[in-house]
Amino acid sequence: MAASVVVVERPAESVALIRINRPEARNALNMEVRKLLAQHMTELGNDNAVRCIVLTGNDKSFAAGADIKEMSGVGTVDMILRDSLKLWRALAACPKPVIAAVNGFALGGGCEIAMTCDIIIAGESARFGQPEVKIGITPGGGGTQRLTRAVGKYKAMKICLTGELFGAKEAFDMGLVSEVVPDAEVEKRALEMAQQIAALAPLAVQQIKEVILAGQDASLETGLRLEAKAIQLMFSTHDQKEGMAAFIEKRKPQFLGK
Ligand code: CAA
Repeated sequence: MAASVVVVERPAESVALIRINRPEARNALNMEVRKLLAQHMTELGNDNAVRCIVLTGNDKSFAAGADIKEMSGVGTVDMILRDSLKLWRALAACPKPVIAAVNGFALGGGCEIAMTCDIIIAGESARFGQPEVKIGITPGGGGTQRLTRAVGKYKAMKICLTGELFGAKEAFDMGLVSEVVPDAEVEKRALEMAQQIAALAPLAVQQIKEVILAGQDASLETGLRLEAKAIQLMFSTHDQKEGMAAFIEKRKPQFLGK
């Protein structure tokens, strides 16, 4: 039986890994991949045994964007019926931290998926870009919006208007990537960081993700109020009592997500 185009693994306790698996098409995101990604992300987001998720591809490609062959003949009505925004939202709505482990190409929808993640670990040879303009379309999975928020108007304009690809170091320098590591260490590093996060207080982790994302689109005052509510909420959790007691008693905390 052929392997699924999206594979879910459980490489460590409390950590799930989602692998896009269409190597013959540079991991192009056809509708099957997109639906499975949305489905797995929703399921893992709801799974109490999962505290952090790694999303990756293979050594040649994280994802080379939407599947151009599948898309080339469709019309506007088909595009409306596909309702891609719903599938993209399923990724964005995941309450658990998601780490993109990027080797090779992260282009178009692939770059957009990486930007929907919370942390991006890139291999030294990774290539990013929003090349949609070169095939007569616009970015459609958040590229014009998330990229601008991440790197600012002038770099985002250059990237989207020229469609030129850029490397991991440039992506890091402009604030698009969290860490650059040797290609062979990308997945290992992402899993290591996922385990590190998974060992921390899950409710605090989720609140941090929620407040950073919600605050990005709000005024500073609203964001600060959200943050204040988040820290107040933490003081009715087991993990706040446990974390502080463990510090005082000089021992490792046992976080329960309660
Ligand atoms: N869609 C469909 N097939 C793709 C693909 C894509 N996005 N990217 C690569 N492939 C296929 C190729 O057609 C080729 O298939 P065949 O063997 O059947 O010819 C196979 O994958 C290998 O590709 P290449 O021979 O081109 O490999 P390469 O290493 O020389 O180049 C690449 C890799 C730079 C990624 C190049 O394939 C490329 O430019 N791909 C298209 C990238 C792109 O334009 N992405 C944006 C898509 S639009 C989008 O993403 C918008 C949205 O979200 C709505």
